[in-house]
Amino acid sequence: MQKITVIGAGTMGNGIAHVAAQSGHDVTLVDLSVHAIDNAMATIEKNLDRMLRKERITEADKVATLARISTSTAIDTSSVSDADLIIEAATERLPIKLKIFEELDELCGANTILATNTSSISITKIGSATNRPDKVIGMHFFNPVPVMKLVEIVRGYATSDEVCKVITDLSIKMGKTPVEVNDYPGFVSNRILMPMINEAIWALHEGVAGVKELDTVMKLGMAHPMGPLQLADFIGLDVCLMIMRVLQDGFGNPKYAPCPLLVNMVNAGKHGRKTGEGFYKYTKGVKEVVVAEAFA
Ligand code: CAA
Repeated sequence: MQKITVIGAGTMGNGIAHVAAQSGHDVTLVDLSVHAIDNAMATIEKNLDRMLRKERITEADKVATLARISTSTAIDTSSVSDADLIIEAATERLPIKLKIFEELDELCGANTILATNTSSISITKIGSATNRPDKVIGMHFFNPVPVMKLVEIVRGYATSDEVCKVITDLSIKMGKTPVEVNDYPGFVSNRILMPMINEAIWALHEGVAGVKELDTVMKLGMAHPMGPLQLADFIGLDVCLMIMRVLQDGFGNPKYAPCPLLVNMVNAGKHGRKTGEGFYKYTKGVKEVVVAEAFA
């Protein structure tokens, strides 16, 4: 397991490329957009600099990590065919993932493992787009990837024991703690996290408490690093809504219905931190966040 190709250079993709390269692997980071690749490389360098300032790594580690990452703007033979492992971290849309996995299956060597960082799409479904469902697995990282310790390893219906073992060992080599779970809607992480976030939005919607108050209860009362509403903004309200829909469709249980306030905010383009506003308002370069006017 030496050559890893990461598909998608967004927040998760660049974090995965970072930890894979820092743990000694040769990484190819693929994105159709040059702009996304440039941003990703700048983010990786910024995060390595932060670690350097804290004396967690040396200048030589930083230089070596960056040197291990090459980039490409296409999924083609040169970017994927000699990879031992592909980690797909593209957009969370099933048709896009199915198309990528079909392409990967054609281009990659017979032994290449195809992993996906999906937060909730069925691994079994993604595996069905390939002729190697035994080598398709979920490798679910958490944002910010260089900081968060967990990798949720999701075993599809056909994923082999051997592939689970290889990905478990690799996660440990990357400095993470792997936890193996089975392929059901939301896996474990989002089956538990998203209903909590949705419930916090209901509590806000019903006027039980304000944004700051709700988040403070969960931060100080439950020792969560961020309150659920701030975390929803951090994850992206569009992503939260999408995952609630996966739970709702997957289980057919009304307890997973998304709060109408969440739906409205997504329709209004208030997707949280990435759009500058969700439950809070964000200013570039300013760490302190303020409650959005709609909830002040
Ligand atoms: N890259 C690298 N390091 C980073 C970083 C980044 N993007 N962001 C923060 N850090 C590091 C900092 O250097 C700092 O390190 P030390 O403690 O070693 O000094 C540490 O993380 C804390 O950072 P800050 O002091 O700047 O800020 P903070 O204390 O407010 O922490 C946080 C920021 C780590 C994001 C923290 O608020 C947190 O853990 N929040 C919860 C994150 C979470 O729950 N993520 C999972 C989301 S769900 C998901 O990703 C998957 C899904 O399917 C939806």
